[in-house]
Amino acid sequence: MNDIDFDRYDRIRPIRWTGDALELLDQRRLPFHVEYVRCQDSDAVAAAIHALTVRGAPAIGIAAAWGVVLAARDIQADDGAGALAALEPALQRLNAARPTAVNLAWALARMRRSLGGAGADWRERLAREAQAIADEDLAANRRMGALGAALIVPGSGVLTHCNTGSLATAGFGTALGVIRAGVAQGRIEQVYAGETRPWLQGARLTVWELQQDGIAPILIADSAAAHLMKSGRVQWVVVGADRICANGDTANKIGTYQLAIAARHHGVKFMVAAPSSTVDMATASGEAIEIEERDPGELFAVGGVRTAAEQVGAWNPVFDVTPHELIDAIVTERGVIERPDAQAMRAAFGA
Ligand code: MRU
Repeated sequence: MNDIDFDRYDRIRPIRWTGDALELLDQRRLPFHVEYVRCQDSDAVAAAIHALTVRGAPAIGIAAAWGVVLAARDIQADDGAGALAALEPALQRLNAARPTAVNLAWALARMRRSLGGAGADWRERLAREAQAIADEDLAANRRMGALGAALIVPGSGVLTHCNTGSLATAGFGTALGVIRAGVAQGRIEQVYAGETRPWLQGARLTVWELQQDGIAPILIADSAAAHLMKSGRVQWVVVGADRICANGDTANKIGTYQLAIAARHHGVKFMVAAPSSTVDMATASGEAIEIEERDPGELFAVGGVRTAAEQVGAWNPVFDVTPHELIDAIVTERGVIERPDAQAMRAAFGA
């Protein structure tokens, strides 16, 4: 199989640190407007995370880390211990921006730890840590891309959900990284992308992102997924994750769970690709995951045009949990876990 040409297959960067501000590719405006929003303080970063200007579990963590670097500009401290105390309110506001993706709390915990034992150089330590979080994410994605693609038999079709690509990470993507690698190696013949109602991450982001790389995906309505599987055109569903629990249960974009059920029914394999920063061994099972619920107003309109009658009720949970029994493989940069359960997760990630 050919090596992957990363420059050809990975061109988009959603997060840019300029040295004095954080620029975020505004994912609310894609695909018709490619514009960066400039954040100059940590509350602007928290607001951008909450508003989905920046989104996708790893990207949220990276943006929050740079948010801490921005918060550091507003405080005076002689050493890391003093800085940590003064930064705590900003850290908590960043952490509260979205609840489900563990990468946010994970990145903030790393930023806190980087201050341990720091002296007057504590600001540089924070900046180095934020850059390391971003660099490690890109490296992890490239590694898991190769590991995940190796599971896919040449000539396959795959279905993906939401957006898990460069837009959702430091670059290359998680599930979309596996798909990029699989296309580059000739293993994947056709990529299908679900629209991902209500925010349309598939229709607005994934399809556009793959197009930038010269990959021509086929967009389907979310409700066409089971019919697609029955047709025999896809051999794998490949998705990302917002939190993978100690028993392998996985939270991801709403609609993932029903894809896993349909996949099992049709003999289609189901792969979760995520960096180890998405693994949360402190949460025993999916029962304990907080599922974000967003404004029901997201269901009432498409592209700003109202489609539902006035004064109707709506419920808008934006993630769901796929039980580990329905997952054939969890792929991280550390390796592949086939048929994940608590024992296999412990063997891979410790207690
Ligand atoms: O609400 P979003 O767009 O942030 O949800 C994103 C997802 O559910 C992704 O599948 C997940 O974060 C993995 S991104 C590499």
